[in-house]
Amino acid sequence: MLVPGHPAGAPNAADWANWLAATPPALAMRANAWLYPAVEIAHIAGFAVLVGAVAMFDLRVLGLGRELPVRALARHLLPWSAGSTLLVLPTGLLLFAAEAPDLAANRVFLLKLVLIAVAGLNALAFHGGPYRAADRWQERAPPRARAHAVLSLLLWLAVIACGRLLAYV
Ligand code: HEM
Repeated sequence: MLVPGHPAGAPNAADWANWLAATPPALAMRANAWLYPAVEIAHIAGFAVLVGAVAMFDLRVLGLGRELPVRALARHLLPWSAGSTLLVLPTGLLLFAAEAPDLAANRVFLLKLVLIAVAGLNALAFHGGPYRAADRWQERAPPRARAHAVLSLLLWLAVIACGRLLAYV
């Protein structure tokens, strides 16, 4: 598609979104009445495990369930949240492909992607920062660790809100 002010031949968002929406998986998502809801159910199951595991860990960092050692809880929960991305990402991509031209221009969808990226960076900053000294945490996790946990809870809640709002905007 030619866009005024856009050099001919260079790809733009509408080009690749139209291309994606015409790929066989995207056509199948729109042609089969059961496929879209089935993929959406898998998406929901995946992010329920992802966000649920992260939220349980964040609440432990904030001081709930102090009898559970932080590192042992992390060893149990975090592989589940990381593993569930194997379900969340492909299903999210399929849902996106089905409606790519609309969603690529949807600010709520773009905000959702930005929030996921920020939540990921927040988790990396937590693990590369205060979590390295978790063995030495006393009764309470240090303020920086708790700040990461609060931010994480808020960001994932906002991601869920954006995902749900996509049905309305
Ligand atoms: C990583 C954490 C994620 C969470 C917590 C999340 C959350 C959600 C939620 C709550 C919904 C609405 C489900 C419903 O009401 O039936 C949804 C739908 C959707 N998600 Fe995600 N999502 C995530 C990742 C992704 C990714 C990475 C993509 C794309 C690359 C994506 C694309 C979509 C699409 C296209 C929909 C359908 C929107 C519509 O109704 O038109 N999601 N997601």
